[in-house]
Amino acid sequence: MKKINRQIALFVLFLFLLNLFPLPQKTFGAWREPVRAKRGMVASQHELASKIGVEVLKKGGNAVDAAVAVALALAVVYPEAGNLGGGGFMIIRFKDGKTAAIDYREMAPAAATRDIFVDTEGNLIRGEGGSTVGYRASGVPGTPAGLDLAYQKYGSKKILWKDLVEPSRLLAQNGYVLSYRLAELFKSYKGTLEKYEDSKRIFLNGGKMFEEGDTLKQPELAATLGRMQKLGAKEFYTGRTAELIAEDMKRNKGLITLEDLKNYVAKERTPLRGTYRGYEILTMPPPSSGGIVMLQVLNMLEGYDLRKMGYNSAQKHHLVAEAMRRAFADRAEFMADPDFAEVPTAQLIDKNYAKKRAETINLTRATKSADIKAGEVTFSEGTETTHFTVVDAEGNMVSNTYTINDLYGSRVTAKGTGVLLNDEMDDFAARPGKPNLFGLIQGERNAVQPKKRPLSSMTPTIVLRKDGSVWFALGARGGPRIISAVLQSVINMIDYDMNIQEAIDAPRIHQQWFPDEVLYEPMGMSPDTLKILESLGQKFGDRPINIASATGIAIEEGTGVKFGAIDSRSDGEAIGY
Ligand code: DON
Repeated sequence: MKKINRQIALFVLFLFLLNLFPLPQKTFGAWREPVRAKRGMVASQHELASKIGVEVLKKGGNAVDAAVAVALALAVVYPEAGNLGGGGFMIIRFKDGKTAAIDYREMAPAAATRDIFVDTEGNLIRGEGGSTVGYRASGVPGTPAGLDLAYQKYGSKKILWKDLVEPSRLLAQNGYVLSYRLAELFKSYKGTLEKYEDSKRIFLNGGKMFEEGDTLKQPELAATLGRMQKLGAKEFYTGRTAELIAEDMKRNKGLITLEDLKNYVAKERTPLRGTYRGYEILTMPPPSSGGIVMLQVLNMLEGYDLRKMGYNSAQKHHLVAEAMRRAFADRAEFMADPDFAEVPTAQLIDKNYAKKRAETINLTRATKSADIKAGEVTFSEGTETTHFTVVDAEGNMVSNTYTINDLYGSRVTAKGTGVLLNDEMDDFAARPGKPNLFGLIQGERNAVQPKKRPLSSMTPTIVLRKDGSVWFALGARGGPRIISAVLQSVINMIDYDMNIQEAIDAPRIHQQWFPDEVLYEPMGMSPDTLKILESLGQKFGDRPINIASATGIAIEEGTGVKFGAIDSRSDGEAIGY
């Protein structure tokens, strides 16, 4: 009897302890913890780039210094998207609360006019010679100027420019071992890369192709980095590199001239600020649409109890899709380079505007995209991508997304430079009202104009706790799906208490007004849920696909421990120290 009593007592004690120390509750299947570090961390889509960034942090550089080194490294080790020949956006939040937004988006050459991608019959000129492949697809690159501005103005001044460039120059000169993924990716882009002599020689091994384990050396890129190392980033715009780019453009009927390169400037903008359930969000203003669209969707969702609806419920997916449909309709109409078109940013991210917009959402019936028009604003106001996140030991945070648009951009490597050029001209509304590479419809405001920056969806973002400290930062690659990935990760953190890895990995959806369909992911939605959503009038693409891929870093409250996450959908590594 005594023995039985003891067993019962032990069992009760066991239950009690279980309650005190419950097993960690995982929100969904993936059991991958974020990478943990006490001091600084870099989360990027290539291990070598993350390592280079962490070395800068260890030497006393701040998050901005490290971000510059990571961006230069990705240009060497992640040629599908890392770049010198593209552009992007950087959001910085310093530990003292100061913030910055650097716009180094590409700029249309002076000779680019509204209809350069429309033929005499009014058809869009795509592919070779058009807005996506070949010399005319490129805008004037912004990356070297953006990195230079970040370094000069916000770097720690403890690390010399030449030391930031050196690791990347060495990687380009001595080469690095190709992963299976990168070797295969070169093969799948063979059809277009092989049309451009330097691209073929460098990335396709002269046509013999690379295999996993081969070493990729990029001597011309090493030389370009060497010149920039000695003469500063301006060399890219005014030195031998600029001459080489302009000469190659001229030989091949491209539009970028020496004058265009000289005229390029990276611009500082004021980070866009919004809130979601009391958490402050810092993100990118135009010429990216990412920040506005994300904040609009979040504002619309704020009126609903998403937690109660349940993370993967049909009701929640329906609501998110409906909010996106409305925000993307506004994107098409109102968003563009703010230096060329009036963008009613403040009205679009206003909570009351979102409330009015959300009033048309029917929880039991999808609205047809054709029945949705842009919202009403008054205009009375004044006037292949990769994301990485860096945090230093002091808590300064950088959230950076940059791109050459399509994987391998225009596929053109400017002769003698090793620099792959972007095809960012396709982000303009080459023919307003007609879909671009990502199926996005865009309006007249985003038509091609000389020296204008094409509208982007890149959404580098930083979210603050209610006490004003940084909670997490993230961003993604994937065209307009970037916005969906970032905003749903934000919701996952705030409404569903996921950690940064779970938030980024969790299945998501995408709706961009037109085409009138909801994208979902493989294993991301049960057949039952699909059926319910169909019964509500949602339409779906013919197969599930991955929706963007993100990287991010969160900072633990109180301890300051950093947690880094790379999307399960892609390569990369978060490395801390
Ligand atoms: O700026 C934009 O929105 C696009 N050029 C981004 C392209 C992209 O994310 C491709 N990535 N895989």
